[in-house]
Amino acid sequence: MNKKHTIDLDFDRQHIWHPYTSMTQPLEVYPVTHTQGNKIYLATGECLIDGMASWWSAIHGYGHPALKAAMHQQIDTMSHVMFGGITHQPAIELCKKLVAITPESLQKVFLADSGSVSVEVAIKMALQYWLSQGITTKQKLMTPLKGYHGDTFAAMSVCDPVNSMHSLYSGFLPEHVFVPAPVSQFGELFDDNEAEQLEHYFKLHHQQVAAFIIEPIVQNAGGMNFYHPDYLKAVRRLCDEYDVLLICDEIATGFGRTGKMFAVEHSDIEPDIMCIGKALTGGTMTLSATLTTDKIAIGISEGEAGVLMHGPTFMGNPLACAVACASIDVLLQQNWSMQITQLNQALASLNKCAELEQVKNVRTLGAIGVVELACEVDVAKIQAYFISQNVWIRPFGKLIYLMPPYISTAEDINILSDAIYNAIANNQY
Ligand SMILES: Cc1ncc(COP(=O)(O)O)c(C=O)c1O
Repeated sequence: MNKKHTIDLDFDRQHIWHPYTSMTQPLEVYPVTHTQGNKIYLATGECLIDGMASWWSAIHGYGHPALKAAMHQQIDTMSHVMFGGITHQPAIELCKKLVAITPESLQKVFLADSGSVSVEVAIKMALQYWLSQGITTKQKLMTPLKGYHGDTFAAMSVCDPVNSMHSLYSGFLPEHVFVPAPVSQFGELFDDNEAEQLEHYFKLHHQQVAAFIIEPIVQNAGGMNFYHPDYLKAVRRLCDEYDVLLICDEIATGFGRTGKMFAVEHSDIEPDIMCIGKALTGGTMTLSATLTTDKIAIGISEGEAGVLMHGPTFMGNPLACAVACASIDVLLQQNWSMQITQLNQALASLNKCAELEQVKNVRTLGAIGVVELACEVDVAKIQAYFISQNVWIRPFGKLIYLMPPYISTAEDINILSDAIYNAIANNQY
């Protein structure tokens, strides 16, 4: 079938806003007709090897038979029903699985519809918890620079202020306490001064701070910073000492991406509240969850409000829950840990980029590979080059990175790495 004429790019350009781009001078968009495995097919005929897993969500690749079957079956039964006053087996089944695979103290699950919303819910939980304890001064959050937690307002307020252009919304955005971004790198020595510096901020601000929010081990969209597990350990210790809750945002790192099922396991800590999303449905549908402990859930429930004030229309969407159950089953049924180790070995093919003078750093962790350049890339230029090489890689800032589907072969990772190397070597960025 010739699908060339079925995608109306003129209409797209005139009427559709794409992420992080202008309506009048948008970055180019490439028309996709279908996806399968780790391949993306363009209307213009190219077949691209996917290095992005659809913003890190499609961990099993596209069109996995078990995920498709789960969705077909659920569509035939019930695509959606409201969650207020109603419950259903897909949600119960999913929450059972989530309670089983997440840190033991996380026993209560709130299902939401996107990563950003799960962060909003986490923040509400933290604020409501302290109010329920009769403490009214804890109205702020503390968070490291270089973080990213989503684009809704409360989530954005704890993103890196420069990267997420806080200046545009100043006067409207709540102001929180920012601490330095973690410096000691994963796999290197931990500098104890970082913990001391953190303590300084806790000492100064703990009476106003409800929660510390952080992406465990990898700061993702804020700079792909792989930091030392002892930093997170220090955060946990200080949160305990200074009566601050710990929110870990595992939206990007969860479900094996860093080599552990959840990145908090690298530090052997448990958060008070945890957000998950992205890979939760294997990249098929939007769904997220905020998990918390009995202590917090009971605190909120026995506080003055007595309820958690949140309830999205599509909360607990049965179709999304059913496919999330299937995705978790697929992950657990395979030797995912070995798969990530093998991907990590394959990603070592990026190391050759370090010989290029334009490259500042090459790093890998789990199924993430990053090439950091000395200067920013021209996204439109490098993207066009990557398409010409039949790969799908979407860099940002100074970073060209891979977060491929777990099913990617070493051969495909080599092709992706070669494309990155050649783009830099030939100044195609
Ligand atoms: C760590 C982290 N938190 C939150 C989000 C926001 O998730 P969503 O885009 O589903 O709202 C993202 C998205 O990239 C993320 O990486």
